[in-house]
Amino acid sequence: MKKIQIAVDGPASSGKSTVAKIVARDLDLIYLDTGAMYRAATFVALQKETNKAEEIIDFIKRNPISFMNGKSGQEVYLGLNNVTQVIRTNEVTNAVSKISAMPEIREFLVAEQQRIARNGGIIMDGRDIGTVVLPEAELKIFLVASVDERAERRYKENIEKGIPTNLEQLKEEIAKRDYKDSTREISPLKQASDAVLLDSTGKTIEDVVLFIEEKVKALV
Ligand code: DC
Repeated sequence: MKKIQIAVDGPASSGKSTVAKIVARDLDLIYLDTGAMYRAATFVALQKETNKAEEIIDFIKRNPISFMNGKSGQEVYLGLNNVTQVIRTNEVTNAVSKISAMPEIREFLVAEQQRIARNGGIIMDGRDIGTVVLPEAELKIFLVASVDERAERRYKENIEKGIPTNLEQLKEEIAKRDYKDSTREISPLKQASDAVLLDSTGKTIEDVVLFIEEKVKALV
């Protein structure tokens, strides 16, 4: 298969990573979760109790973010530390919008993402992949779903994992993160003009995967 680049953007909990992981497995592509990179940077900021971009970047340069295939799927490392779980805590989730709005942090992580994608054969999910990171990507998907449906999906996942959760609070948090991600000054969440809009409200994961894989097959 041609070494293509696929960009999947969309708001929080729209199913981007679930779908991108399956497409990567089916089509033998590298999967890159760019949100995990912003989460790792946020984890550094919280650990080091700093909001200074240069200190966060300096730490990441000495302890690079990397991805490895582990028992429970793709695992995220910061240097030698496995941070897969800790970057998903509420503390990180609530602070990530602030850290990911810092221009120096974005510039640094975007360069890393572009380096990883250079040779193609990759599917990347995030907020600015189609607009900033991979403007030349052969396929761009903008995946959306209603706030209610995204909150319900996240609620079910949490309950299955045994995490006590309040549905109404989840809806509020998702709406708040949407607002912050799409109104920030630098690289806001925005559909690229050449992206395909895909509304997954009422659709299954299989439906969405099939739609994307059909689009890929039409390209190669
Ligand atoms: O996809 P996620 O929810 O794990 O992403 C975490 C945060 O990182 C999200 O609130 C927005 C930010 N993000 C970003 O600004 N740009 C990206 N390409 C990916 C994520």
